[in-house]
Amino acid sequence: MSTALAPLDTARIRAEFPLLATPFHERKLVYLDSAVSGQMPSPVIERMAHYERFEHTNVHRGVSTLSQEATDRFEEAREKVRAFINAPSTKEIIWTRGTTEALNLVAQSWGRTNIQAGDELLLSAMEHHANIVPWQMLAAEKGATIKVIPMNDEGELLLDGLDELITGRTKVLGLTHVSNALGTINPVKAIVAKAKARGVVTVIDGAQAVPHLPVDVRDLDCDFYAFSGHKLSGPTGIGVLYGRKELLEAMPPWHGGGNMILSVSWEKTTYMGLPGKFEAGTPPIAAAIGLGAAIDYLAALGLERIAAHDAALLAYATEQLSAIPGLRIIGTAKAKASVLSFVLDGVHSHDVGSILDHEGIVVRAGHHCAQPVMARMKVPATTRASFTYFNDAADVDALVAALLKVKEIFG
Ligand code: ALA
Repeated sequence: MSTALAPLDTARIRAEFPLLATPFHERKLVYLDSAVSGQMPSPVIERMAHYERFEHTNVHRGVSTLSQEATDRFEEAREKVRAFINAPSTKEIIWTRGTTEALNLVAQSWGRTNIQAGDELLLSAMEHHANIVPWQMLAAEKGATIKVIPMNDEGELLLDGLDELITGRTKVLGLTHVSNALGTINPVKAIVAKAKARGVVTVIDGAQAVPHLPVDVRDLDCDFYAFSGHKLSGPTGIGVLYGRKELLEAMPPWHGGGNMILSVSWEKTTYMGLPGKFEAGTPPIAAAIGLGAAIDYLAALGLERIAAHDAALLAYATEQLSAIPGLRIIGTAKAKASVLSFVLDGVHSHDVGSILDHEGIVVRAGHHCAQPVMARMKVPATTRASFTYFNDAADVDALVAALLKVKEIFG
């Protein structure tokens, strides 16, 4: 595996993450939880601190040089996001607090305008709660129905029946690009093409995809694509909604207030064009600039190299964990990102997670905000290790050694 990973210098990269060098339960910290939240490298933290120390003010307000410069930095970050996902225009890049807010924006603005009683909303069986609950709320309000694309025991969507699942009443398809609970990479481009051919609007949850795969929204040809800064080596509190311009232009604003208006009077208020129309109030400026710095950082590492590194690490971890008696990997799709969920015979995932924690290994244990996935896989919860560009084979070996200890403890 080391040969395949040679292109990324993980030792040098790790030196840029102070937390990874900080003893944890008097051990070396092994962070295998980047799917819950990625760590931020020093250049990102420093860029945000620089803004707060020397550049801080509000954006899009007034004529002060400071405000104009902050606005420039803020809008440069938007341009970095645009280029990162190859969107046609920065007008199509809306800042949100995260993926969840981005998906709620679509459901509340586009959905409340376009969904009527009797319409059908199609979701995949492996959605995160963030791409289920906003649609359930909308369906309840409008009298619409939710239908689900099923998946097999490996965690792959069963697409043979897709043509029948899409009916004349299907208005929207909500689909995760990469399952946060199983790691499955869905064939988004092919599914979007089918949906589009039937006039269905496509809403892609890209939260777990952007840290692992180069994403090109023009190539995917989706209508909406949402992701979060903190899964992408950036800060929490910032996320992105990409939306196709024609759709965004036709959508009403969903939050009202300052920044999103052209003029306000008691008689009539007019709204900004894109993207301001969807960005009421003071935005998370430092966070947006931090996300821009994170994109620069990842671009310098190389997205293709990160993808290759993650794939090699996943292959090694899959092989090593599969050799542990009584361990079952949940999610064995052919196409997977470096997210590895598993259960250990006779041990609850929370116990596995707690013991690993004492061994210095951070993973997530639970339902991963994907309870329907747990129900489908007939497990109450899983333990999930997720790997990123600063992890290496030694991290996998530490995980395996700790899991053997868990087995010893539980006999
Ligand atoms: N959605 C995040 C996860 O999968 C929180 O852990």
